Amino acid sequence: MKNIISLLCFLLFSVTIKSQQTTLTNQNFSTIETHLENMLNKIGNAEQNPGLTDKDGNVKLVSSKNWISGFFPGCLWYAYEYSKDEKYKVAAQHFTKNVEAEQFNATTHDMGFKIYCSFGNGYRLTHDSHYKDVIIQSAKTLITRFNPKTGCIRSWDHNRDKWQFPVIIDNMMNLELLFEAAKLSGDSIYYKIAVTHANTTLKNHFRNDYSTWHVVNYDTATGAVISKVTAQGYSDESCWARGEAWGLYGYTMCYRETKNKRYLEQAKKIAEYVLTNKNLPEDMVPYWDYNAPNIPNEERDASAGAIMCSAFYELSVLSDNNNQKYKAAADKILATLSSPAFSAAPGTNGNFILMHSVGARPKNSDVNVPLIYADYYFIEANLRKMYMDR
Ligand code: GLY
Repeated sequence: MKNIISLLCFLLFSVTIKSQQTTLTNQNFSTIETHLENMLNKIGNAEQNPGLTDKDGNVKLVSSKNWISGFFPGCLWYAYEYSKDEKYKVAAQHFTKNVEAEQFNATTHDMGFKIYCSFGNGYRLTHDSHYKDVIIQSAKTLITRFNPKTGCIRSWDHNRDKWQFPVIIDNMMNLELLFEAAKLSGDSIYYKIAVTHANTTLKNHFRNDYSTWHVVNYDTATGAVISKVTAQGYSDESCWARGEAWGLYGYTMCYRETKNKRYLEQAKKIAEYVLTNKNLPEDMVPYWDYNAPNIPNEERDASAGAIMCSAFYELSVLSDNNNQKYKAAADKILATLSSPAFSAAPGTNGNFILMHSVGARPKNSDVNVPLIYADYYFIEANLRKMYMDR
């Protein structure tokens, strides 16, 4: 009898927790839709895409060349996926078109951010063959930046006096486009380059504790590493929070695409670095750098929190152990980001969803502002959670 009562209590507790979590996701989607509708009403059929706010807190549109141009159409595709409402599909098609020219832009590594979030999601949801062509062309353009000697894709073309061949940890995120292009085209070159880049990054971008260097500078004649430095972190030897989040997301995604256990192990080690970090706040949205000098008086980076949140949901599904631990981490971050401390009231925040992200602190650029990529990964995390909790 006692056992039966305990079992019933446990079942009731589980059902209650599950229904609270479903309610959170539903509430979040209602807020997300309100923000997106307000944004669409504000910008109409603009020819550029929302990225951040200006100094007066109004939405600022960015040209397709900007690395963040693909995130707004991505948000709209996710809203369409969730709601099945045609108005989001029509809007997503329009704002996806705004970044189409980028398929031929070989001057940047940010192709995955721009094209996978927009055309990639669009193709997944519509199977529009034109979107498929754009994805393949974009991958073709991106791999012109691959150097067989260094074993990776060049990130930046600027600062040539400082860096011979800079590769940033963020570049892991562009590999998803290559994996997709390999599947869509049947050409294994994209897969091989993605895997080579992931392997080189795994070898050179991580310290013994699995924190990351932001920029690794290679010698193109020998393939050797010349230097390991930062551009957006606190110092060359610190761990920039969004970089660590890109690593967590990137290796989790690489494991999904390849089933190579090395990538899963890497993602789990990165997760341990984050989850055991003494400077990770209790609510689990990190400061902009894990080694920022004035913690706790430093800005948080909601974008790093949102990226980690989405990555932890995926890791919790793919991992061979600790699944509940990763799910709990994701749930905790989601709850924090959904709270008034980070989620803006509709009609405020330039109609972006999340407040308090940090672009590039050392340059004092975009500090403590809404940034569209935080919204994108926040919406993605909500979708991932919704599918998991069903
Ligand atoms: N990829 C640039 C950034 O994360 O700021």
